[in-house]
Amino acid sequence: MIDLRSDTVTKPSKEMLNVILESEVGDDEYKEDPTVNDLENFCAELLGFEAGLFVSSGTMGNQISLLNHTNPGEEVITTSDSHIKNYEHGAASFLSRIQFRDVDNVDGLISEEDLNQTLENSKVHKPKISLISIENTHLASGGSIVPFDKIKSISSIAKESNLKLHIDGARVWHAILEENKGYDYGKYCDSLTFCFSKALGAPIGSMLLGTKDFIENSREYRKKLGGGMRQIGIIASAAKFALIHREELLKDHQKAQYIYKKLIENREKMDPIHEIEYKGTNMIFLSFEDNSSANKFIEKLEENNIKTGLIKKNIVRIVLHKDVNEKDLDKIVENVNYSSS
Ligand SMILES: Cc1ncc(COP(=O)(O)O)c(C=O)c1O
Repeated sequence: MIDLRSDTVTKPSKEMLNVILESEVGDDEYKEDPTVNDLENFCAELLGFEAGLFVSSGTMGNQISLLNHTNPGEEVITTSDSHIKNYEHGAASFLSRIQFRDVDNVDGLISEEDLNQTLENSKVHKPKISLISIENTHLASGGSIVPFDKIKSISSIAKESNLKLHIDGARVWHAILEENKGYDYGKYCDSLTFCFSKALGAPIGSMLLGTKDFIENSREYRKKLGGGMRQIGIIASAAKFALIHREELLKDHQKAQYIYKKLIENREKMDPIHEIEYKGTNMIFLSFEDNSSANKFIEKLEENNIKTGLIKKNIVRIVLHKDVNEKDLDKIVENVNYSSS
């Protein structure tokens, strides 16, 4: 079965499992797991932050950031379709008791003008805004990159307005490797989360980065949320292995480009597909007239051992990742063509 539903379906390789077996471990609640300490320092240094905290998931990293940066009743500026707002089971209202203020976006990009206008409009009768949260890459639009220059410019507006800036960088390595500039996120934002279990192929874990104080507070929040862990060097070693090998693991952009190009060449024959969208990283979106034609397409593909899923009721998402072999690419193209005719 070729599983294209998400880049979270990747499995640890033999090499990664061997690294896991060799992990040195200790009790991380006492900060005595050398592999975790090494991973946290490695990630912080890599992205220009003072410190890091290994957390169980991207959701936990995002929610701990909200708990740190906000007070109940305040607002967080984000895009209407962001993960932190829509796909974390209402955790932000449940835990931090904040609400979100949407700003218009195109592919996850907020314009400086809209941002300034939102801040201006909030001065009277509206809750205090304490944080801006940006998602890079932006999932809902198909993995679009928020350019590093945009992050810098939003960062300067945030600083001028005395707001914190958080980056939900679940897939930030896709953006960093594709753009090939800007590793020093720590200079421009107050916190950042990224995931080892999306595309990088590790079985579990995310990194939360920030200042030393922020990370010390985050350690407390992690404990309160039940996320304090013990001999987790066994998963931290897999995470470090994934990060060191990021360039090989994230070859999925080339795979997505290959498939996109082939599908576009055959565009006229793909009757029920209205649009084929590719936003430069590892996802392709195929939009259909309605939910039923999208579901029929998914079923047909599955009969030929290719799994895909819906991202919206009429949009099928194809996600490329390390466990899709080069030799599978033509099979995917053939079957998408066949299933859509
Ligand atoms: C953009 C984004 N942020 C955060 C998350 C949450 O990550 P996790 O599933 O590890 O909680 C996801 C998960 O898909 C995501 O796509």
